[in-house]
Amino acid sequence: MKRPIIAGNWKMNMNNAETKKLIEEMAPLVADAKCEVVVCVPFTSIDTARKALRGTKIKLGAQNVHWAPKGAFTGEISADMLKELKVRYVIIGHSERRQYFGETDESVNARLKAALGAGLKAIVCIGETLAEREAGQTKDVVTRQLCGALEGIEKRDLKSIVIAYEPVWAIGTGKTATPLEANDTIRVIRKALRKLYDRTAAKAMRIQYGGSMNAKNASELMAMPEIDGGLIGGASLKAEDFAKVVNY
Ligand code: PGA
Repeated sequence: MKRPIIAGNWKMNMNNAETKKLIEEMAPLVADAKCEVVVCVPFTSIDTARKALRGTKIKLGAQNVHWAPKGAFTGEISADMLKELKVRYVIIGHSERRQYFGETDESVNARLKAALGAGLKAIVCIGETLAEREAGQTKDVVTRQLCGALEGIEKRDLKSIVIAYEPVWAIGTGKTATPLEANDTIRVIRKALRKLYDRTAAKAMRIQYGGSMNAKNASELMAMPEIDGGLIGGASLKAEDFAKVVNY
């Protein structure tokens, strides 16, 4: 059985004091979680989060990583730097990075290789925009993004990768894909994985849904056979809401 994974994506929220408080509130509420629990915090809160997470079941994550080991890349953070701070997971290719910071399938692939090379686990985000969905391009877009992200990635490394299917139109909008829609698109993603690798690898891959997933809709989404977890934005910023998702 695959272990479901629920990850909070705090985005550009939570200073150090808020990080400590939120983790202290959240940790007891998710102490009996059956799934794997991760919080992906801002770079500046990583050290505080690491300390606050000690002795809890929650794992530490970051929200981006650069592809180069070091050098003249002002403002960027390397995989080894994250590793040094005991970060376990890193989100790569979030749609906000694709939309506002010029992230491409190629840069996602390069970041993924750097993360894996440093021994980090990655949550790789893919998903179509509203325009792409309305143009009937959802399958093509997620397949292209998936293949681009995984270019040159060996089968043995797949165990360190989680895919997050996040329809862009559902992120932060309160609009969720229906469980059936999410399940259908994730099935497409799994089919693409089968083509890229094989049936066993596709089956073993954990694929999350993300986009306005919250305390109310989590159990319905998690009941779908293809959905192996959630990437939670807004609802991960309140301990009780996040705990309700984790304890779906
Ligand atoms: P949301 O964000 O839950 O606020 O829609 C999800 C995400 O962007 O990962």
